[in-house]
Amino acid sequence: MAAAGGWAAASALPAQEVEPVRVGLVGVGNRGSSLLRTMLRIPGVEIRAVGDINEERLAKAQQQATEAGREKPEGYSRGPEDFRRLVERKDLDAVINATPWHWHTPIAVAAMKAGKYAATEVPAATTLEECWELVETSEKTGKPCMMLENVCYFRNALAVLNMVQQGMLGEIVHCEGGYQHDVRTALIDEHGDLKWRGVYQTERRGNDYPTHPLGPIAWWTDIHRGDRFSYLTSMSSKARGMNTYVRKRSGADHANATRQFAKGDVNTSLIRTENGVTITLYYDTVLPRPYDLILRIQGTEGIYSGTLDKIYLEDRSPKPHEWESMDGYYERYDHPLWKALNERANGMGHGGADYLTLHQFLRAVRKGTQTPIDVWDSAAWSAIMPLSEMSVDARSAPVDFPDFTRGRWQERRPIDIGLD
Ligand SMILES: NC(=O)c1ccc[n+]([C@@H]2O[C@H](COP(=O)([O-])OP(=O)(O)OC[C@H]3O[C@@H](n4cnc5c(N)ncnc54)[C@H](O)[C@@H]3O)[C@@H](O)[C@H]2O)c1
Repeated sequence: MAAAGGWAAASALPAQEVEPVRVGLVGVGNRGSSLLRTMLRIPGVEIRAVGDINEERLAKAQQQATEAGREKPEGYSRGPEDFRRLVERKDLDAVINATPWHWHTPIAVAAMKAGKYAATEVPAATTLEECWELVETSEKTGKPCMMLENVCYFRNALAVLNMVQQGMLGEIVHCEGGYQHDVRTALIDEHGDLKWRGVYQTERRGNDYPTHPLGPIAWWTDIHRGDRFSYLTSMSSKARGMNTYVRKRSGADHANATRQFAKGDVNTSLIRTENGVTITLYYDTVLPRPYDLILRIQGTEGIYSGTLDKIYLEDRSPKPHEWESMDGYYERYDHPLWKALNERANGMGHGGADYLTLHQFLRAVRKGTQTPIDVWDSAAWSAIMPLSEMSVDARSAPVDFPDFTRGRWQERRPIDIGLD
């Protein structure tokens, strides 16, 4: 079981006078402006530069910084490749990007080549070639690249990690997760036309957004810390959600009301790890439904369900066959990182998890260490997007995962979580 490395030495909160980390941020739309708001709350972060092709958003981000009492970050808005000028600045330690998916790898690669730590929104890459490009650039430059998978830092994900590491669920056998989130308003605008994210529905055919549920599952199951994803098989349903949505909102005459979308509405993938753990993964974003990441983990001693936020442990839960509330478990097993930062993270995105994610990335930058989600994790978790598509296209034939670590997955490295 992976241990929470670096934690023993990390019992104290960081001093108020922390060494500054100088950051450039590319892409300040919905997500980027939220990351900016969070970073402005983290001690020792200096936002030196912001970039966006949209000048209005860029100006708003600059204003966000000055309203928080910071110096106005320099703006970069001379077109989609202007991040190349930004990454070359001598006064940056890290470049974070929250742009559309197809820009994640080009920006992270440019940042690493310019000698900066890179952090990218999810997914880090959209093709296997991009996954390898990230890995090879990081290995060549010695600069880490972290995908900002914030679900790893959700309260329940961290508490379950803590319990798994203490052996409470026994040997892990199966997990289930899903990006089950009705995001139709992020795909289609008020006129029924496609936004950048909606265009993926016309081209891609598998699971486009695997890393939210998969990140915590990878941590729970020691992926790249003694195990690795071995192969997957994937199947997509028919596509009806986008048509129905556009027909209801913009009328049957709109082209998107009858267009043939390439991506089926619900994609289901099944992954097997080298050590025999199975993982069911759903992608379900264009049908009406409440949000649910599932986050189920099952071992020889019991099961946790994120959907129910309940647990059952053999020989411990009061009644056989009956779920138990997590209340008492959070009290006892909340992760030390959560306990230490929870108050400061209060009010920040995703129940404070965004604060913890950025805090841990910036800690690695400050210390000059590997990031807790490293480039090999970022590549393997993102690789579901092309691999699931390959399987869907081949009538669900099994597809092997590349070993991005080139054998290093067998090392029992701890997950680096800490405050030092
Ligand atoms: N981790 C999370 O919880 C979470 C939540 C929401 C979105 N996201 C991710 O964040 C990213 C951004 O999503 P969003 O909802 O903010 O989208 P958005 O469209 O609101 O914002 C994207 C921004 O990037 C800018 N942009 C596009 N190309 C650019 C380029 N080449 N250079 C500079 N700027 C460019 C756009 O003008 C826009 O302001 C996506 O990858 C998305 O998946 C993650």
